[in-house]
Amino acid sequence: MNILHTSFECYPIAKVGGLADVVGALPKYQNNVGVTASVITPYYDNQFNNTSRRKSVYKNTIYLGDISYRYSIEKILSPQLGFEAYRVYIKELLDRPNVYNYEDDAERCIVFQLAVLDWITNTDNIPDIIHCHDHHTGLIPFLVSHCDQFTKLKKTPTVLTIHNAQYQGQLSYDKLHYLPPFDHDKIGLLDWNNCINPLASGIKCAWRVTAVSPTYMQELQQKANGLEELLRHENKKCIGILNGIDTHTWNAEIDPMIIKNYKETTVVSGKKENKKWICNHFGLDINKPLFGFIGRLVEEKGADLLPEIIRETLTNLEGSIVVLGSGNLEVEEQLQSLTNEFKGKYNTHIGYDERLSHIIYAGVDFLLMPSRVEPCGLNQLYALRYGTVPITRRTGGLKDTVIDIGENGFGICHENTSVWDVCYSIQRAIGLYEDQQKYRGIQHQIMKIDHSWSQSAHQYITIYESLTNQ
Ligand code: ADP
Ligand code: GLC
Repeated sequence: MNILHTSFECYPIAKVGGLADVVGALPKYQNNVGVTASVITPYYDNQFNNTSRRKSVYKNTIYLGDISYRYSIEKILSPQLGFEAYRVYIKELLDRPNVYNYEDDAERCIVFQLAVLDWITNTDNIPDIIHCHDHHTGLIPFLVSHCDQFTKLKKTPTVLTIHNAQYQGQLSYDKLHYLPPFDHDKIGLLDWNNCINPLASGIKCAWRVTAVSPTYMQELQQKANGLEELLRHENKKCIGILNGIDTHTWNAEIDPMIIKNYKETTVVSGKKENKKWICNHFGLDINKPLFGFIGRLVEEKGADLLPEIIRETLTNLEGSIVVLGSGNLEVEEQLQSLTNEFKGKYNTHIGYDERLSHIIYAGVDFLLMPSRVEPCGLNQLYALRYGTVPITRRTGGLKDTVIDIGENGFGICHENTSVWDVCYSIQRAIGLYEDQQKYRGIQHQIMKIDHSWSQSAHQYITIYESLTNQ
């Protein structure tokens, strides 16, 4: 069975967040369990793309309304990826330094989807399943079902995975002419609240819809940035499947990005070396418990509360905090300015730095995740694997993966995204850290938890099989 994953991100080709990690890992595991999974993404102007070996396998022209775009499909020649990967190259439109945040993102998403479908239709390279990820590829289920141009794909089952329903890719009807001719009786399948909504359309038209954790799928039916009613209506074809992690990339024993490798039996000395590096680099005290935050500085992650959490904690408690992230400019500024006030106790790197993130997972004692919304969350899974105790809010995938120490678990959990809840959890964490024997016992316990894709990869395959047998 051939599966084609279509996505705007895929590690290591292009990464903004967890979507990339999932699309860069799931296909590897699927290839180990009897299906052939490949990935197609846009070609961005980034280091990976500009340095990887590639071969052009197809070229054609597509139309966005009256505008024509010449595109080429490039196959990446890199066996280390663990799956076949293709990219859609379109000069100036897709080959830009960043993945998102351009004014014409809607156009870029549509052109990408049209190019993918045009390529597989014209070359008869038709997969058994097209697996779409998030709104960027959410129009594919509609396009294959209702556009004459893609008639050959009409019987190809589509699966949509919702990684984050906050972002839906809405566009107004004056862009309707971007789509190739389609059966106009079906126009309602594009619509949600009087605009074209790619995520809603994907939910309506995909044969199956998955979300990245069981709890998130339940939550979506109550709160999904306006799509809750639709998700309740489509309930029968929806399922939550917990994300896994790439246990090769995220393995403290062999991770080439960290300062000192370690395993369960050497976690104390290994972590210490990584912590020492962080403390030297950021000017922090190695003897205090170290708390880290890594992530997009957005409301969903509770990042707006970080400045207050830092102030409260460091005024009243004995610990240090390090933050790695970028996003909301106001939060970035506040986080930056606190470095003076709490010199020696707190520091930050504003920006994106893959290597530093690995060192932080390895070197901090606790990882903070006060998320308001967390569809799955991968940071807590990486933390566990690196022997770092997660402090999480009970929501989405965090609820499915972290159990509080008070309930025979291994993490520190709180109910609300509030300064009080997080500071109370930090206080509990410091208490745990003071009991080194207990803390170490937990470290050993969490490093053994298996969050690899092995389980979940099978769940996806069961879905694919049920669809191809229909
Ligand atoms: P989301 O996809 O919502 O951002 P996830 O927890 O699923 O959240 O995944 C986030 C991924 O992005 C993790 O691999 C995390 O380490 C990484 N990441 C987030 N921010 C940064 C950053 N500033 N620098 C390096 N890596 C980051
Ligand atoms: C999204 C979610 C995150 C999830 C990731 C991968 O970006 O915000 O919680 O882990 O996708 O599925």
